[in-house]
Amino acid sequence: MKVAVTTASGKLGAEIIKQLIAEIGNENVIGIARTPEKAAQIGVEIKKGDYNNKEDFVAALKGIDVVLLVSGMDAPDKRIGQHRNVINAAIEAGVKKIVYTSIIGKHGASTFDAIVNSNRQTENDIQESGLDWSIGRNGLYIEPDVEYINKYKEMGKVANCAAEGLCPYTTRNELAFAYTQMILNEDRNGNVFNLCGMSITQSQLTKYLNLTFGTALKFENLKVEDYLNLQKKMNGEFLGMIISGIYTKIRNGEFELESDYEIAAGRKHIEWDKYFEQLS
Ligand SMILES: NC(=O)c1ccc[n+]([C@@H]2O[C@H](COP(=O)([O-])OP(=O)(O)OC[C@H]3O[C@@H](n4cnc5c(N)ncnc54)[C@H](OP(=O)(O)O)[C@@H]3O)[C@@H](O)[C@H]2O)c1
Repeated sequence: MKVAVTTASGKLGAEIIKQLIAEIGNENVIGIARTPEKAAQIGVEIKKGDYNNKEDFVAALKGIDVVLLVSGMDAPDKRIGQHRNVINAAIEAGVKKIVYTSIIGKHGASTFDAIVNSNRQTENDIQESGLDWSIGRNGLYIEPDVEYINKYKEMGKVANCAAEGLCPYTTRNELAFAYTQMILNEDRNGNVFNLCGMSITQSQLTKYLNLTFGTALKFENLKVEDYLNLQKKMNGEFLGMIISGIYTKIRNGEFELESDYEIAAGRKHIEWDKYFEQLS
């Protein structure tokens, strides 16, 4: 089986490639990257692929059996067309199966919902493509919170608008394990999986950070509107709306979903006690 993975220069794409190499060898994996030189060290053949250019993917996907499509980073309406470029190129190139990294979340009215909806549209496009498919809805990466620790230390707190809502976190490493199984095993075909670990609140996350880094951070719950304004000031209009929308969805219980991780991956998701213990 020959497998291609998009966004080989990104963190998730690179982790999936690493885990695939361990399973089927680097001669059976190719990476596709918008900026191929950024993925040069990854240990597999790298082909050029910008989501805006279908022809890149028609060429890159020749001779490929399964393509793993990592969701794009552009504005939601633009993403749908970009993902369609990859889906249509896969059909044209004779690819048999497409695996897609989507996002979790129930329907809501937050400033993150346009992203969720664009992911759902791509899920539909894939399901109607005529190709075999398997779809994962990713939980939220926990790594950014860990990487943000110095900023949290400066502020003395974790502050957002999630209240005591439950958030289904995951890690890129755990996602890559599940996606590798979804790529390689036909019994995962035709399924949409919620890929996340045990859900925790921001208060629980803050406790884990304190235990791991010896800090005394407090969790401060902000009003939705105040957090939206703060985020826009800190990260600009687009990213500010995405980040505050994510925490609004947590607050509203719109990420309270059952995880299918064990079915997709064939093993349990790492527990947060263990994950943070390994970081200490
Ligand atoms: N679940 C979560 O918590 C969460 C959080 C953030 C993002 N996401 C989603 O998960 C995806 C992967 O996350 P990550 O951690 O791997 O992100 P990352 O490390 O920032 O990588 C993003 C990748 O997308 C590529 N890319 C951007 N625009 C592209 C285009 N037009 N055509 C082809 N490639 C393009 C980038 O290529 P270059 O190297 O050329 O820039 C890069 O390889 C993101 O794209 C986003 O949709 C999920």
